[in-house]
Amino acid sequence: MSFIEIRNLRKVYRIGSEKVVALNNINLDIERGEILCILGTSGSGKSTLLNMLAGLEKPSRGTVTIGGKYDITKLSENRLTRFRQKNVGFVFQSYNLLPALTAIENVAMPLLFQGVGKSKRNKLALQMLNEVGLKSRARHKPTQMSGGQQQRVGIARAFVAKPKIVFADEPTGNLDTKTTYEVMNLMVKMSRENSQTFILVTHDSEISLFADRVIRIIDGNIESDERVTEEQRAVLKEELEKIRLEKEAEAEKEAAEKEQRKAAKAEAQKGKGKKSKPDKKAKKGKEPSEAQGGKLKKRLFEGLFRKSKNPQPETVQVELKAGEPSEPSAAQQTPDEQKKDEQGAVAHE
Ligand SMILES: Nc1ncnc2c1ncn2[C@@H]1O[C@H](COP(=O)(O)OP(=O)(O)O)[C@@H](O)[C@H]1O
Ligand SMILES: [Mg+2]
Repeated sequence: MSFIEIRNLRKVYRIGSEKVVALNNINLDIERGEILCILGTSGSGKSTLLNMLAGLEKPSRGTVTIGGKYDITKLSENRLTRFRQKNVGFVFQSYNLLPALTAIENVAMPLLFQGVGKSKRNKLALQMLNEVGLKSRARHKPTQMSGGQQQRVGIARAFVAKPKIVFADEPTGNLDTKTTYEVMNLMVKMSRENSQTFILVTHDSEISLFADRVIRIIDGNIESDERVTEEQRAVLKEELEKIRLEKEAEAEKEAAEKEQRKAAKAEAQKGKGKKSKPDKKAKKGKEPSEAQGGKLKKRLFEGLFRKSKNPQPETVQVELKAGEPSEPSAAQQTPDEQKKDEQGAVAHE
């Protein structure tokens, strides 16, 4: 039996007398640990399918059985909410971070839902931020971060509780090409490391090459179901290598320019016959810039094409003074759940 079994899944939306068949009759088996892409043009039914798999919407007909246990189409809303909190992570196109919370607070949110204590929560969240290369941004709020950084926080949040399934609906839709590749690389690497099932929705066939298997969907029907070939992967690998080298060159250039500025400044001070003052910034131990973070880049680009075992988590010292929200809030929730929360309908265990 497959990890996820979709049988005769159909979804029809009715608007007045209009009928839209979003999913016609989907049959699909997804294995545990599979990295699957659902590829299709806008309006083809991708998000509808994803929502059915996550139990966010009920189908008109058909079943979605997960782990041989639940037909999630039959679960009550309360049990579905618990099922999602325990088993599912989401990455959204628009990040969906809570603006009032810092990066670390956003990332810790799913752990809060699971009843993990504060210090462990913070420790795991910081560890996760470290993995996505944003440890130094732990106390930043979403508005203080770039789109790519926000999505990396979103990824950290989706993966922090080690859910069995991670869904990503057009996760790179708002990102530039380089950031897209980095973000994809990161998600695929994390999924592989933890043997998580990763289900990606995109309209971009290039992005689909990050997956092991690509399902193409047209007008609510599966049109093809193919493995990504070694050849295709080689092309992607080449692209990634190009970006890595470009970034490396950029970082080197930046470092060289910095050196030059430093030398010029020292020269100027010597000319004035002054003693050179200590560099305040250097004294404060300024955080390295993203471009200088050679280690981060290496991490981003390694491990995509190999299946690695669970790494030993690094121990991270946590010192947090940031305020803690006392109530689970909407960070890890889907828009539907948020709506329900607003109506006071979500039950907490
Ligand atoms: N809540 C809804 N009410 C009515 N029609 C919908 C709704 N959600 C999606 N649809 C329709 O179903 C079809 C598939 O939509 P969707 O799954 O969002 O496509 P995709 O994610 O591939 O762009 C589209 O024709 C869309 O207009
Ligand atoms: Mg969509």
